[in-house]
Amino acid sequence: MYIEDIPERPTQAQLRLLRAHLPYSLPVLRRLQVAAGAFDGINSAGTMGSGTSTYAHILFAYDGDKAPTKEDGDNVPFAAAFLDLHKTPETAAWVYASDQDQGPLPVRAEDLFATDNDRPDDWVVDRGAELVAAWSPERRARCRRLVLALLRRGRTIAQEVAPVLAAQLPARFGIPDNAAAFVKSVKINIHDGIRYVLQHPGTPDEDTDRAAVTLSYYDAYDKWLFRFEDVPVLSQPEDTEYATSFSGTDGAGQPSLVWDSVHTRDDVALVISRTAIPRTVETLLSVPSVALREKGEDGKEGTLQAWAFVGVDGSLWTLHTEPAYRGRGLAKTLAARLFRQYCGVFDAILETVGSSEENQNKGDGWCAADVSASNRQSQGVCKRLGAKRAWSTAWIVASYDSLGYDE
Ligand SMILES: CC(C)(COP(=O)(O)OP(=O)(O)OC[C@H]1O[C@@H](n2cnc3c(N)ncnc32)[C@H](O)[C@@H]1OP(=O)(O)O)[C@@H](O)C(=O)NCCC(=O)NCCS
Repeated sequence: MYIEDIPERPTQAQLRLLRAHLPYSLPVLRRLQVAAGAFDGINSAGTMGSGTSTYAHILFAYDGDKAPTKEDGDNVPFAAAFLDLHKTPETAAWVYASDQDQGPLPVRAEDLFATDNDRPDDWVVDRGAELVAAWSPERRARCRRLVLALLRRGRTIAQEVAPVLAAQLPARFGIPDNAAAFVKSVKINIHDGIRYVLQHPGTPDEDTDRAAVTLSYYDAYDKWLFRFEDVPVLSQPEDTEYATSFSGTDGAGQPSLVWDSVHTRDDVALVISRTAIPRTVETLLSVPSVALREKGEDGKEGTLQAWAFVGVDGSLWTLHTEPAYRGRGLAKTLAARLFRQYCGVFDAILETVGSSEENQNKGDGWCAADVSASNRQSQGVCKRLGAKRAWSTAWIVASYDSLGYDE
């Protein structure tokens, strides 16, 4: 087993390898592209370098004793993770394993979308077992081996940085100086099939590593994938206003909203008050957003009525329309504008991709949203924008004690 442990920012070779595994590698690729600076200067705070931190690690695990070279091709099995513990209680780690790919490389959007994956409304959420049902015992064992190695390395890193982080960020970590609290577990975003194999080792004959990961939290979402070229153009980049059919309750009417971004502390406070997902002010200001707000008066900005962000893993974050404006096309127009405006920014940090005008707008062309299987409104928005449900992704809190040790 060889583990590559790179601080703060990914190498071009790591980005290139993950790009060859699109769309399955999308969340980790995007998280690494953001760590590499994809949002620098275009986030709401205008900051540079906020996609990573001095605590971040980029971890790749390979069977064998060294990283594969370009000549080895893209089919060498591997697992990859981005880990930044100072983001706690936000997601600290994103994990990908090449074994989660659903087909041979290279994957073409036409092939992926050609399959009839328009699932029934009652499709079960907990799909880990279903996602790996066809995997051979060897594939399960290899996937477990590679991912467990990354998580175990993550545990070592947590033990090293815990005292420093607990002392520096007592408010974030609850109890001042209590390092023990966050060497216990880690919040991870992971493919739901991999989550399942981590919890369920095969028979002792098939897999000698008996670790069965225990979770203190589990929440699964559908991964919806969009292709840039399928996302309709519902507003023009030069538009400054969006006409709604809404008439205000005071009878005065509110004919149009103004295109903007989420950029003030008041804006962010409103966004945080409308979501149950833990997000910090700093993180929301460190990612790009689009928003619609009422027209202000006396030089003041009006109140936000709808908003959407590109998350640190490139997914559509916190799409929201205030109740009074729902059902008028705001969410689909916002999400389409967000994707069309920002899909191209991720490839800007890749050296090997040309900078044609098409690449600047579209990049690799993949966009994504994680939507709860019970959220009909959001599913409706995704379908309207041409997206397909591709697999199930899970947020888990994994106990370090249950990870076991490399043999
Ligand atoms: C989901 C949400 C953002 C939709 O906002 P919206 O502005 O009303 O949505 P739109 O008017 O743009 O609707 C777009 C599509 O979604 C679908 N849709 C919207 N509301 C729906 C509902 N209540 N039931 C079923 N489908 C619905 C429709 O297909 C619609 O397309 P159409 O107008 O072409 O028929 C809004 O309901 C909301 O803020 N909900 C709470 C927060 C939330 O769940 N966010 C998503 C987190 S991932």
